[in-house]
Order: sequence, then C-alpha cells, then structure tokens
Amino acid sequence: MVLSILKGARILATGSAVPDLSIKNEELSQIVNTSNEWIVNRTGIQERRILKNKEESIITLASSASIKALKNASMNPLDIDLIILATSSPNDLFGSAAQVQAKIGAKKAVAFDLTAACSGFVLSVITAAQFIQNGSYNNILVVGADVLSKWIDWSDRSTCILFGDGAGAVVIQSCSKEENGILGFQLNTNGKEAQQLSIPYKENDIDSKHSHLLHINQGRFQHLYMNGKEVYKFAVSQVPISILKCLTSLNILPENIQWLLLHQANERILHAVANRLSITSNKIISNLNKYGNTSAASIPIALDEALKDKKIKKDDIIVVSGFGAGLTWGTVVIQWKY
Ligand code: UT7
Repeated sequence: MVLSILKGARILATGSAVPDLSIKNEELSQIVNTSNEWIVNRTGIQERRILKNKEESIITLASSASIKALKNASMNPLDIDLIILATSSPNDLFGSAAQVQAKIGAKKAVAFDLTAACSGFVLSVITAAQFIQNGSYNNILVVGADVLSKWIDWSDRSTCILFGDGAGAVVIQSCSKEENGILGFQLNTNGKEAQQLSIPYKENDIDSKHSHLLHINQGRFQHLYMNGKEVYKFAVSQVPISILKCLTSLNILPENIQWLLLHQANERILHAVANRLSITSNKIISNLNKYGNTSAASIPIALDEALKDKKIKKDDIIVVSGFGAGLTWGTVVIQWKY
C-alpha cells in the first residue's frame, strides 16, 4: 500500500522485557516425550522464558518493556497520546491496555488492545502510523505482549515446546514527511482457515435451576491448538508474496533491503522465506533460540535486541512481517531514522 500522508511517522526507541525463568529443552523432555535434538532441529529453539509467580503478569512485562522504551526515547509517559497493546492473552477479556496505561503513569493516553495473534504487532504499528500520518496524534506507544504459557496444554508436545512469554515496545513519533520511516504496508486475512491455529471458546450445557426461564449457554476457552504442518506451509508460501507485493509498491528490490525481521516462529520458516526472496541469511534477524515463539512480542523483542547489538544503522530498510492465527499475515516496511 502506497501511503498518502500529511505527516511522517518514525520509530524513536524500543524496549523489551522477558520473565527471569528460563526453561531449557532438556527440562521439557522431562515433562513430554521430546528431546533437545528434535526441538533444535525442527525449530531452532533452545530455551524459552515463562512467567513463574503471581506477581509477574502480562501487565508487568508490558509495563517494563514500555518504561524501557520511554527511557530510551527520553520521553515522559505524560507525553504519550495513545497506547496500543497487541495481545491475545490479556488478563481481562475487556482488555489489558488500560492497566498498562495506569501502571506506567501515561494518564493522558487513550489505550486499547488489538487482538491479531502473532500478526498483532505489525497491525498495531500500522494502526499507530495511521493516527500519526493523518495528524491526529504525535506520540504513540505500541506494545506487543503475550503470555501464551497460560493457554498451552503442557502435556501436548506439539505445542508446549514452541511458545514463550515476553513483551516488546516501541515509541512512534510524528516527524516531517521527508523523515517518514514507516514506508508502506500489505495486510491479509483468511478466516476460512481460522481452525488451523486457535484458542477456541467452547460452550458447556448448563443445568441451571432457571433454565425454564432463561436458556443461557456459557463456557470457557480451551487450550491452544495448532495444526503445525498447515501453518508452516501457509507461512512459507504466503509471507514471501506479502513482502514482494509491499516492496514492489514501494519500488524497492528485495536485494536492497538491509534486514528481514519476521515473526519468530521457527528458524526454518525464517530461512525458507529469505530463500524464496533471494535474501541472504546474514540479513535475517533471529533470536528465537533464546525465547521461542512469543507471539505478538516476538518482533519488538527481536528489534530491540538488534538495536542494542548495534546491527541496525541509520537509513537501513527493515522488512517486518507477522503471520499466525486468524489466519492473518502482513508486512510493514520500516526505514530506521536514527
Ligand atoms: O506463531 C504462529 C505461527 N506458527 C508457526 O508458524 C508454526 C508453524 N509450524 C511449525 O513450525 C512446525 O510445523 C512445527 C515445529 C510445529 C512442527 O514441525 P514439523 O516438522 O512440521 O513436525 P510434524 O508436526 O510434521 O511432526 C513430525 C513428527 C511426528 O511424528 P510422526 O507422525 O512422524 O511419527 C510428530 O508426532 O514429529 C513428532 N513430534 C515430535 N517429536 C518429538 C511433534 N512434536 C514433537 C516433539 N518432540 N516436541
């Protein structure tokens, strides 16, 4: 999508937070029938961070990542106009963003959740950019945070080895059109394949003493389900198409990008997508060996680490793609401006 904008938007700073508790593959092999070798060969994951006590939550992780991003931006929380929390594992079905707003003291900010699973961060950055590029807001905090350890069936070896908890945040600020750093995007949804990856809600039959007056069905959310093979095939076939469409609309050739930053789901997916686009593997940003798949948090955590490692330089073009439940997938092309 080629943007028609009144103002520019650019990422000013990043921050991230993960729980202290690390679970290594060997430890998981004591819980389910798996091995370090299988997990490393099939996914690239070596360890993941998991919430360990009741004091830690999606709110503490999201707030910690946000405070670090604000500090790196030398910005007061009161300067934030809007907080978008990308999450599919809120601690309240009505949303968690308002609790993050209160915890970090950003009391002038509007705050809402955006639910789009592992594509949530990409969708949130694009949403934030619209508010800035049309002149509505100047400073937006976008947070990607998920704690899927709460929703995993820890006896299911096909999923429990994959996921970890974490949060990453970026401060996006308005700037001149010439300095615009959020260059374009491309987004997709295919709800017909929603069943491939889901935390489904299931209704129970309620035997209520009032059932002759009110027929109410209630239920609860189930554990995370994923058809790994199908989701894998979807990711390696559709993500390169999304990236190519987006780059073509911007007149950028794949060989002219500096970094490929994909949702950190599986090391094999990162390389398969890069191969299809003839992007060399030294341009792939990857840290999933340490954290596993942290859903909406995976991209901002990896971005924060790449910046801390001083990999990303001024004017570098970073192609960012998310993919996952929905099914949803999409790309945003960012130019680093600092
Ligand atoms: O975040 C949203 C996006 N998510 C993704 O993109 C994930 C996409 N999918 C994947 O990354 C991969 O499909 C997985 C890593 C989930 C699985 O890898 P796979 O190579 O597709 O394995 P598979 O599901 O085809 O399973 C191969 C074999 C099966 O055994 P049989 O039927 O060949 O005897 C599984 O039962 O591996 C078995 N298996 C395991 N073995 C040891 C499945 N999980 C495990 C395990 N340890 N943890």
